Amino acid sequence: MRLTPGPPRDIDLDTVDLFDLDLYGTGDPHAVWDVMRAEAPLHHQVLPDGRDFWSVTRYEDVCRVLGDHREFTSERGTVPTHLGQDDVAAGVLLTSTDPPRHTEVRRPLGSRFTARAVRSWEDSIRRSVTRFLEPALDGEVFDLAEKALLLPAIVTGPLLGIPEKDWEELVQLTAMVAAPCDPHFQLGSEAATLAISHHELVGYVTEWVKERRRSGAEDDSLLHHLMSVRPGGAPLSDREIALDGYSILLGANVTTPHTVSGTVQALIERPEQYGRAQADPGLIPDLVEEGLRWTSAACNFMRHAATDVPVAGGVIPAGAAVVAWIGSANRDAALFAAPHTFDITRPNAKRQIAFGFGSHFCIGAPLARLTLRVFFEELLRRFDSLTLAGEPDHLRSYFIAGMTHLPITAQKRRTP
Ligand code: HEM
Repeated sequence: MRLTPGPPRDIDLDTVDLFDLDLYGTGDPHAVWDVMRAEAPLHHQVLPDGRDFWSVTRYEDVCRVLGDHREFTSERGTVPTHLGQDDVAAGVLLTSTDPPRHTEVRRPLGSRFTARAVRSWEDSIRRSVTRFLEPALDGEVFDLAEKALLLPAIVTGPLLGIPEKDWEELVQLTAMVAAPCDPHFQLGSEAATLAISHHELVGYVTEWVKERRRSGAEDDSLLHHLMSVRPGGAPLSDREIALDGYSILLGANVTTPHTVSGTVQALIERPEQYGRAQADPGLIPDLVEEGLRWTSAACNFMRHAATDVPVAGGVIPAGAAVVAWIGSANRDAALFAAPHTFDITRPNAKRQIAFGFGSHFCIGAPLARLTLRVFFEELLRRFDSLTLAGEPDHLRSYFIAGMTHLPITAQKRRTP
């Protein structure tokens, strides 16, 4: 998805198709969302197959839809690729549960993900990032987007307790779930790609749990921790562990790589911003926040209205699906001045909602922030400048905003 919108043009909101993959592969969704925020902050679309959904695009409305489970439930699925099929894991999977059950499962997991808890991972993350950047040091073309797909596995694999030999396959499977229509990941049809990848991923975690039960082995990994969680006093079933392991794998793998690629692209296009961050590494946490706002890798999440809910001057009828467009909210001029300017000194970039809002706020946010900070510290320390070495290829997905190719060359830093 192009992250810097092109010049304003006439857009007919009655005919716009927000699920058109070309809009994200080669088109300009920010130009469409700009018009939606201004003219139709509550928008309704019927797809050719009869499925329909509502959209909210303003910051305030997106926070409300994501954050208020009494009005907007997660229990019928939260990923727009599942529109029209009720989630088989409703009420079980962490992401598809409302409080109080959601709070009971999330609380013990959350303690493993706090900023303080993940800090102990910093040295190991730095080693992984250093290893990751090494091939770029020789000045040859380096496909950052392609390589970055493996970065979260390198970082979170050990934390989750997943052996290195399985990372590549799991990265491929999670990419298939996130972008089932992208030619890099599609196997047959969209439905087949989703079914195969879901089945394989849940099967992987289920096998892992069975194996642990058989061997009685214990370790400090997160998947092992899931086996000891007791929401409401009872342990999770193997199916529940498999489904939660699946959402952690998915959450970790499909977002961070695209935040890395999109932020690096923004810096290449604006060498003065690169220079500022390099001259003052104290700005790197701000660079990370602006990169999260700018890329909004999880472009949206979905909810269903629990009752008729008045929003943005209209009413979402009870039971209807509503897509909360995070990518649009993060460019809302009501909150972010000159929203299409990438500015690492933006005073309120921390109010970005790339990690969502409310009770489902991304559990991996502290880990993602740490990974991104370490990544940019090491990148800026090693390279004087970066250059685009070809056109980026955008992911064909209306759910994840990202790239499949970003060829770059890096010029090694002369002065330390
Ligand atoms: C830049 C990186 C990331 C972005 C942009 C991102 C984005 C998001 C968003 C928007 C949500 C909210 C979903 C909703 O409201 O329904 C979410 C939830 C979640 N994320 Fe992330 N995420 C990132 C990294 C991670 C990482 C590294 C992990 C795991 C290690 C992770 C695991 C999860 C899980 C398990 C949830 C569900 C939480 C719940 O339902 O309570 N994410 N993420």
